[in-house]
Amino acid sequence: MNIRELLSEKVKSAMNAAGIPAECQPMVAPAKKAGFGDYQANGAMAAAKKVGTNPRELAGKITDELELGSIADKVEIAGPGFINIHLNPAWLSEQLGNAERDPALAIRPAAEPQTVVVDYSSPNLAKEMHVGHLRSSIIGDALVRILSRLGHKVIRQNHVGDWGTQFGMLIAELEEQMADSDSASMALSDLEVFYQQAKAHFDREQAFADKARDYVVRLQSGDAKTLELWQSFKRVSLAHSADIYNKLNVTLSDEDVCGESFYNDDLAPLVSELQAQGLCQEDQGAQVVFLPELADKEGNPSPVIVQKQGGGFLYATTDLAAIRYRANTLHADRILYFIDARQSLHMQQVFTLARKAGFVDEHVSLEHHAFGTMMGADGKPFKTRSGGTVKLAALLDEAIERAAKVITDKNPDLADADDVARKVGIGAVKYADLCKTRTNDYVFNWDTMLSFEGNTAPYLQYAYTRVRSVFRKAEIEPVAVSGEIVLAQEQEKALAIKLLQLGEVLGQVADDALPHVLCTYLYDVASLFMRFYEACPILKSDVDPAMRASRLRICHAVSRTLETGLDMLGIEVSEQM
Ligand code: ARG
Repeated sequence: MNIRELLSEKVKSAMNAAGIPAECQPMVAPAKKAGFGDYQANGAMAAAKKVGTNPRELAGKITDELELGSIADKVEIAGPGFINIHLNPAWLSEQLGNAERDPALAIRPAAEPQTVVVDYSSPNLAKEMHVGHLRSSIIGDALVRILSRLGHKVIRQNHVGDWGTQFGMLIAELEEQMADSDSASMALSDLEVFYQQAKAHFDREQAFADKARDYVVRLQSGDAKTLELWQSFKRVSLAHSADIYNKLNVTLSDEDVCGESFYNDDLAPLVSELQAQGLCQEDQGAQVVFLPELADKEGNPSPVIVQKQGGGFLYATTDLAAIRYRANTLHADRILYFIDARQSLHMQQVFTLARKAGFVDEHVSLEHHAFGTMMGADGKPFKTRSGGTVKLAALLDEAIERAAKVITDKNPDLADADDVARKVGIGAVKYADLCKTRTNDYVFNWDTMLSFEGNTAPYLQYAYTRVRSVFRKAEIEPVAVSGEIVLAQEQEKALAIKLLQLGEVLGQVADDALPHVLCTYLYDVASLFMRFYEACPILKSDVDPAMRASRLRICHAVSRTLETGLDMLGIEVSEQM
């Protein structure tokens, strides 16, 4: 149990003992400001309102009943009825000592493990992955790592766009180009260029356009040769994505691919079901559902086309089939979608309709975790100088190159400089994305993300090397340090409390899918470590051996916390940089 849960439980039973109704919550949280204790219980105010009494008096009754034993050494009431709890350094010392020796770093698995389906990355295979998929991949993967670490069963779903009329054109082009080149992968070495060639070909040549249309029909009717071409196109395109995932240290693999085509056979029955339920109606030859739940300001219901005139199905139809599969076949308790905010209406329509049609049980939580757009320095969506889409592979290579420069400037003799540059460059790109409030747009800036100062990956990776260097200088392995942790200085206590909050923070990120909360936390850890390091000598000759051992153990807890926290964000550390 983490500190917050422990205190919540204690305050809650004190509230019970004080006769406060059960629905009132203790509302325990870390104190926001210095001088107000370490944790605060703010539930007295709401409870007083409920029972119609004076909040400060009620807070007094709660504290009279509060039994914190050795956990706290002072409890006081402030303002209108805040209960400020000052934790006892001896108790904290013991907690941190246990955590430092615990292989799980005192991160407790969730009390009720869930099955969580996470839909992320999900590029369209017809084209190169772009920056929108970069955000989705990075943020989604952080959540996947955190949820798994907390003991949930996580099912990754890479809902790639691998179906639609454009594939007719692409296959036709592939067939022609393969006549001249040996392999599909040669023809498709540059997907973006290939797509443009196919499109130009389609617009220019009537015969080619007819062939492309014919391929769509053959694809849909399951013609073996056409399917084979389509498969080889998919294989090559997926290999492009896999390269990016590898470079990015994103955990998606081929097994997680469950693209749009997977649902093909389910689309016609799904529309029939909507018809049978009286949910969709014909409108100009198309099958449309009108959702009054999502009506616009004028009261017009929101239209969702599930089948086009002529029989074709749409993005929404596939997502409805997918949500049903995830809820009923994969048995998800939660389904998370990491998709650009511009698809919010689409997701709302899918969620509303899926519930209405009974495709998804009441208890299943449907969550679109939207994110803003990545902007260039000019304040417009991130593009190349000529206005094209930025190739992710090139962007990541540039990150590594730039990191290499920064690192050689700082430390020209570094061993393993290439490996460090890779970790720093990739870490910088990922962290710059993760540390911003997800829902906002953000400006992509090389200099800020690669800076060693401020809330950046290099700063945290560097802090990690600083801690590790203490052990190198001391010529001792962390496991060989014996002795108790004793929190004597104020800086040590503040650092210890922060370190003990890792599990709390991960739980919060798992619930809200806001990884920037973990970034802020790690930044706080690193900053508190720097304060501790300046104020509390470790290796100086006049430091008493017991105090040295205690501080070394604190250092070890710091390095493990930074390493684990960064790992949850998919960012690697190095011993030196
Ligand atoms: N392929 C889509 C795109 O590139 C994203 C898919 C997101 N997932 C989903 N279930 N709709 O915009």
